[in-house]
Amino acid sequence: MPHIEDLREQFPVCRSHIYLNHAAVCPLPIACTEAMGGYLHELSHHGIARGPSIWTEALNTVRDRGARLLHAEDEDIFIVRSTTQGLSIVALGFPFQPGDNLVLAEHEFPANQRVWMPLRKRGVEIRFVRSQQGRIALDDLAAAIDDKTRVVSLSFVQFHTGFRIDLAAVAELCRPHDALLCVDAIQGLGAFDLDVKAAGVDFLSADAHKWLLGPEGVGLGYCSPRALERIEPALEGWLSVAHPFDFYDLAQPLKNTAQRFEDSAYNVAGIIGLGGSLSLFHKFGLPAISARILELTDHLAEGLERRGWKLLSPRARTEEKSGILTASPPADPKACYKRLEEAGVVLSLRDFPDGRQALRFAPHAYNTVEEMEQVLAVL
Ligand SMILES: Cc1ncc(COP(=O)(O)O)c(C=O)c1O
Repeated sequence: MPHIEDLREQFPVCRSHIYLNHAAVCPLPIACTEAMGGYLHELSHHGIARGPSIWTEALNTVRDRGARLLHAEDEDIFIVRSTTQGLSIVALGFPFQPGDNLVLAEHEFPANQRVWMPLRKRGVEIRFVRSQQGRIALDDLAAAIDDKTRVVSLSFVQFHTGFRIDLAAVAELCRPHDALLCVDAIQGLGAFDLDVKAAGVDFLSADAHKWLLGPEGVGLGYCSPRALERIEPALEGWLSVAHPFDFYDLAQPLKNTAQRFEDSAYNVAGIIGLGGSLSLFHKFGLPAISARILELTDHLAEGLERRGWKLLSPRARTEEKSGILTASPPADPKACYKRLEEAGVVLSLRDFPDGRQALRFAPHAYNTVEEMEQVLAVL
């Protein structure tokens, strides 16, 4: 297996920026852009004249690499068009009844909030579990879940604090009540291992444009066999069926895999790009990638604290840390942000629900300790 240092060669962005904004939109690695470029060249020179094998291969590659990343079966993986679109499959397709409830966490990124709001009109109660110092406590979740809870939907990693939740422990809370565990995984997948079967996740959606190092508008979905039995696709398309090229057979059944949620034309260029990006996770290994991300965020966290910054990300337990490090400076956050921006550092300035402003640093495994030192030197 190549050394993690070699991953950097994939990122031309390093020549002009210190890129610490993977919690927003990632820069694309060469493995992704070359794969996409090859496809675009093929389309411009040959259209589809040379057959559909390019699509079949791309789809199979992404499903297979996605399945390996999630420790899942290929048939439980499907392609999403965004995190939101994946989550909406559950929001629109689960047979909620009036009086049921759904458990969410407060102050999550709205992708995992807005899709559920219309359920209130159908008499579904939405329970928001509060977060305390950036953490969502298992006790608070346990108190919110009961026999009327049909779905618990949480982010793997919180977008503003970087808190990484123990999904296996949440699944334990869901199990006695037979509630499904649905996960918005965009802020963690690609940075940390997630074994969906071992953790007891039922449904997952993550677009590729953050930690998966892929393009926007394409991502990975996972649906467990038990969730597949319960969710009725709200959107059935010509590709949802068992034999899509039997055009005139409207009576045929849906695919009996999660691929029934892939309803119509694919974002082929995006899928091919994602395939290229996913190859890097298998080449360099997720353990090395996670270790490097933690090394970098730890280094930065220590340096910031020494300079009087207040960390807003929970950092006491390793298993709760992520690639997101949010901190508020002892000076004006906007001024600090501007100073870093001028020095070529790409990061985010984020508002917190309590009105505080903080800087969000989100390095990936190709960043270096030297870059963290340069950031600290600027501050
Ligand atoms: C937790 C979380 N979920 C989802 C998204 C994006 O959702 P989508 O892929 O639907 O645009 C973001 C950030 O953009 C996010 O931070």
